[in-house]
Amino acid sequence: MGGSAVSVNLCDPPHPLQGQVAVVTGAAQRLGRDIAESLAGAGAAVIIADLQREKAEAAAAQIAGDGRSAAAARLDVTSTTEVDALFAELVQARARLDILVNSAGLGQNVVPIVKLSDEEWSQVLNVNLNGTSVQ
Ligand SMILES: NC(=O)c1ccc[n+]([C@@H]2O[C@H](COP(=O)([O-])OP(=O)(O)OC[C@H]3O[C@@H](n4cnc5c(N)ncnc54)[C@H](O)[C@@H]3O)[C@@H](O)[C@H]2O)c1
Repeated sequence: MGGSAVSVNLCDPPHPLQGQVAVVTGAAQRLGRDIAESLAGAGAAVIIADLQREKAEAAAAQIAGDGRSAAAARLDVTSTTEVDALFAELVQARARLDILVNSAGLGQNVVPIVKLSDEEWSQVLNVNLNGTSVQ
């Protein structure tokens, strides 16, 4: 009797992050969104936190529509008030945070440093550097 071999690795759980809660900042698009999708695919409940509320909601809806767990939150990572509010809400609603990915960032406009205005330079530092340590 002919048949094709099927290989199943019983050691790998299908959803190794099941029950875990992840926040991914800057997840409305590109890198952050891909990371959020991967985490959700591995079973985590993912919060897509981004300055762009509508895009974050669309990303969360699409991920959740595929049978995974995702929610959106509008967040400016440079605002201590907004960061505090998001984490206070998380503590109340989910009582845990297992994974935090700081993917919010600026800097796709790659130009020689001397061509950046003081304002642009400050913005990049504020989001990419200070935005990961606001607490
Ligand atoms: N894409 C790459 O190949 C690559 C390579 C190296 C480094 N990076 C860096 O990684 C980061 C993400 O890259 P990307 O390609 O996804 O960039 P992107 O610009 O496509 O996405 C960045 C996301 O961050 C969000 N964001 C910006 N400021 C924010 C703020 N104050 N609060 C909350 N969210 C904010 C934006 O709304 C956007 O959704 C950037 O800093 C980028 O410079 C990207």
